[in-house]
Amino acid sequence: MLRRLHPEQPDSFAFTPANMDWAKAQITKYPEGRQASAVIPLLWRAQEQEGWLSRPAIETVADMLGMSYIRVLEVASFYFMFQLQPVGSVAHIQVCGTTSCMICGAEDLIAVCREKIAPKPHQLSADGKLSWEEVECLGSCTNAPMAQIGKDYYEDLTAESFGRIIDELVAGKVPVPGPQNGRYAAEPLGGVTSLKDYEGGKAKHNASVQLATELGDTVKRIDGTEVPILTPWLGKDGKAAGAKAAPKPPKVPEQGKPAARQAAPKKSAKAEPSSPEGAAAKPEATEAQPETLSGARDGKPDDLKLLKGVGPKLEQTLNELGFYHFDQIAAWTPEHVAWVDARLKFKGRIERDGWIEQAAKLAAGEETEFAKRAKQDGTYED
Ligand code: FES
Repeated sequence: MLRRLHPEQPDSFAFTPANMDWAKAQITKYPEGRQASAVIPLLWRAQEQEGWLSRPAIETVADMLGMSYIRVLEVASFYFMFQLQPVGSVAHIQVCGTTSCMICGAEDLIAVCREKIAPKPHQLSADGKLSWEEVECLGSCTNAPMAQIGKDYYEDLTAESFGRIIDELVAGKVPVPGPQNGRYAAEPLGGVTSLKDYEGGKAKHNASVQLATELGDTVKRIDGTEVPILTPWLGKDGKAAGAKAAPKPPKVPEQGKPAARQAAPKKSAKAEPSSPEGAAAKPEATEAQPETLSGARDGKPDDLKLLKGVGPKLEQTLNELGFYHFDQIAAWTPEHVAWVDARLKFKGRIERDGWIEQAAKLAAGEETEFAKRAKQDGTYED
């Protein structure tokens, strides 16, 4: 397939403020003079934000990294993961057409795409909501045939289940990813033959599907507010941790202002004063221990698993730290969050999942969407 810029281009591109912060933080990963190494993450984030890579997006990334436009276009046009034409406003569907999937019915899935979306790959559906393409093996061959939709895999598909998924997407829903034939993961179709007592297998979803439903961003355009900007390679002062002499920060131009090219070092010395340090290294809150309890009041702990992002293991950890009640969590300050976060295996979940807001509602006797659902079908998160 000929990969080139689309004939119709938007006038401009701009990262959202949060995505811009994220992008600047990525650039600080690389030593001075090597900022071009961030080209793929930045292009990918631009695509996650817009759905595809327009010429202004490619040029913006080139400007940020001090690269020639043509060099960034070379990268964008080389890798098939980059979409160089507009994609569906809801989702771009990638159907695997390689051997296992082809043998198991990929052609039927492609027929569904032609019928329900558009006759040709990379064409938009009549309502502009969907687009599709055939791709090479996505590494889920034991669950063939399959398709990637947004960030997630839909596996063990039939023409019927695939058609239903497409209808749901058009209706604004996001179907649960993973195997669509009742399989838990990639066990034999006749059921597991070993590890029958494996506790993890008793959860409602396998880990990938569980995480996908937890994050809920399968087909969401990413604006950067979804996850905290983690810069563990920067010390608390925003400088590279452990470095004898902190490398000079890369110069990142403001959007719309081209960076000085590497071939013009003199100009570069006078380049924009903008530095990623301020944006990349969000000031980390100092830690302060919140008030903890040695046991639940009246021996009746709240069900902390009703907080989105808290599963049985995290609940146990929270209990061990001395937290048993929603009102305790609702009262955490940023310093408390830093203290608790430092003691959790996966950092950033408190802010990302909004534990404090959820806990405040639950402590006040209100419901959250997640708690309602969890009570109904017993879905807890881990
Ligand atoms: S052949 Fe389709 S995922 Fe490997």
